[in-house]
Amino acid sequence: MSEASKPVILTCAQPTGQLTIGNYLGAIKNWATMLDDYECYFGVVDMHAITVKYTPADLRKNTLSCVAQYIACGLDPARSNIFIQSHVTGHTELAWLLSCITPIGDLQRMTQFKEKAAKLGFNVGEGNELKFTHEGARAQASVNSGLLMYPVLMAADILLYNADAVPVGNDQRQHLELCRDLAQRFNHTYSETFTIPEPFIPEAGARIMSLQDPGRKMSKSDGNQSATLFILDEPGQLRKKIMSAVTDSESEIVAREDKPGVSNLLQIYSTMSGRSVAAIEESLKGEGYGTLKKDVADAVVAQLEPVQATYKELIADKAYLESVLKSGAEAAQKRAYKVLGKVYRKAGFVERPR
Ligand code: TYM
Repeated sequence: MSEASKPVILTCAQPTGQLTIGNYLGAIKNWATMLDDYECYFGVVDMHAITVKYTPADLRKNTLSCVAQYIACGLDPARSNIFIQSHVTGHTELAWLLSCITPIGDLQRMTQFKEKAAKLGFNVGEGNELKFTHEGARAQASVNSGLLMYPVLMAADILLYNADAVPVGNDQRQHLELCRDLAQRFNHTYSETFTIPEPFIPEAGARIMSLQDPGRKMSKSDGNQSATLFILDEPGQLRKKIMSAVTDSESEIVAREDKPGVSNLLQIYSTMSGRSVAAIEESLKGEGYGTLKKDVADAVVAQLEPVQATYKELIADKAYLESVLKSGAEAAQKRAYKVLGKVYRKAGFVERPR
């Protein structure tokens, strides 16, 4: 793909597990609508996935599975560049340069850092110091510095391509703010180098919630399997999870702040079917939650069945996936080297003799 005149978008997902319908509705489904208007770079960020405990064999499997899911969800490799982060030199190099202009306090304040540290048994105190939440936590785990540095690597992912825009779900808003701050700080320190990337956050679907605890975001790594709908879940599993979703003790089918479970189901139904929430509320007037859940399940299964069929073909075709990754990495590397060269010059590094 060589369409340099179009604005550039860059966005990524972590292969920490299987992709969820949160990833699909908040992110990938939207990315697929941008292929003709933007020069697109879609990364699978395997280096981010090692900040949490993992098994190498699973990472390898999940990374390739994520690539196949990207394509199955509509990211056409003929109109976009799909690549694996570790295939492109420059992400970690740029992260190092950016880390040297990032105050540690900015990273310790990040919501996702605090959440991940809390899962390991740590709290971030008033002065940003890490404290054990309970006796015994010290013996069980430590917070690795990769977890703290995560948003700097993410900023590098974006700035390495001088992306104009970054389409993401709502949970990435704070990380993007930091990325914009770092780009501005670098430009200010060394002179104009980076484009300041704009976040693209969809109006609907940007925050799909857990089916079991609608106060929390739906996540790949939720310990409770019935809280999360995975793109590759069998239709029977999808239906079972949706039918057991938490609602409330009333019966009115309406999206409202005090009805987070029902609102979440309506959001999923609306973004899956393309119908507005208001139209769905109107058509289900007088019905019970059982009917709502059945309709949601039908919409989810109808949307995901073709994706799953395409996925099965793709994941069996290793040669095809390799060819996609080869051309994706080549295109990404070309752009990355250009930006990295500029960054090195601005930072005062001596050019390597040719
Ligand atoms: P990740 O892998 O958690 O999620 C990938 C994309 O899916 C969106 N998303 C959701 N949207 C709506 N509802 C949800 N429940 C939900 N869960 C996830 C995310 O907002 C994201 O757009 N740090 C990033 C990966 C990353 C990245 C980047 C993204 C690394 N480098 C550079 C953009 C640009 C992450 O963990 O995404």
